[in-house]
Amino acid sequence: MMSTRRYLIAANWKMHKTLEEARALAREVRRGLTWGLKAEVALAPPFTALAAVAGELADSDLRLAGQDAFWERQGAYTGAISPMMLKDAGCHYVIIGHSERRQYFGETDHTVNRKLKAVLEVGLCPICCIGESLEEREKGQTLARVGQQLEVGLAEMGSLTGEQLVLAYEPVWAIGTGLTATPQQAQEVHAFIRSRLRELLHAAAEEVRILYGGSVTPDNAATLMAETDIDGALVGGASLKSASFLGIITAAG
Ligand code: 13P
Repeated sequence: MMSTRRYLIAANWKMHKTLEEARALAREVRRGLTWGLKAEVALAPPFTALAAVAGELADSDLRLAGQDAFWERQGAYTGAISPMMLKDAGCHYVIIGHSERRQYFGETDHTVNRKLKAVLEVGLCPICCIGESLEEREKGQTLARVGQQLEVGLAEMGSLTGEQLVLAYEPVWAIGTGLTATPQQAQEVHAFIRSRLRELLHAAAEEVRILYGGSVTPDNAATLMAETDIDGALVGGASLKSASFLGIITAAG
């Protein structure tokens, strides 16, 4: 990793944790962090637990994140949460375009673009997820797919600083499967993403953090993050227990 980019280790709890469980896990993570930590750490609980987790993280350096946001500011959109509501709840980050949102909730590169713009407008930092399916990888379409997700997802974004955006490369075949991309496989795509970002965002591309996600564990985190363009991790399963999540944070140094 380049020295100017600070590692970000983000926990995506997905649809897990009651209020009590969420509070307990947030407390354990907070207590387990050592002083002078190099990495930035963020927790993305389900919406119902945002306030409770915000309480546990108060007066700490840990960041709160939403798992999704709608693009409208307010209105008759039953079930939706606006970027401003997330900001109000204490979020700094919001995950946008996760492959599970694309797979189960019909999100497309176009809706991702609308959401990114809305999130940036209120000053939240999106963690924008991209990645190919197994079929796309096997057909040799990985870079084409990821390139398209970037191009459409980041269209008409105007000028951005490197701190306003985080990307997460999450190969769909590696999510929740135990099949982690090798550090070389991941680095190849991360380097490609950075080269496309140079065209889209110019100098800011060097500051944008590109996280890897997909079966990250305390055992594989260090070798993945040793790669030049891997600037942290977006962690699903291993973030649901404090011991494994703290192990991944420790691997970041
Ligand atoms: P796993 O770590 O469970 O593979 O999930 C990755 C992910 O989807 C994080 O957003």
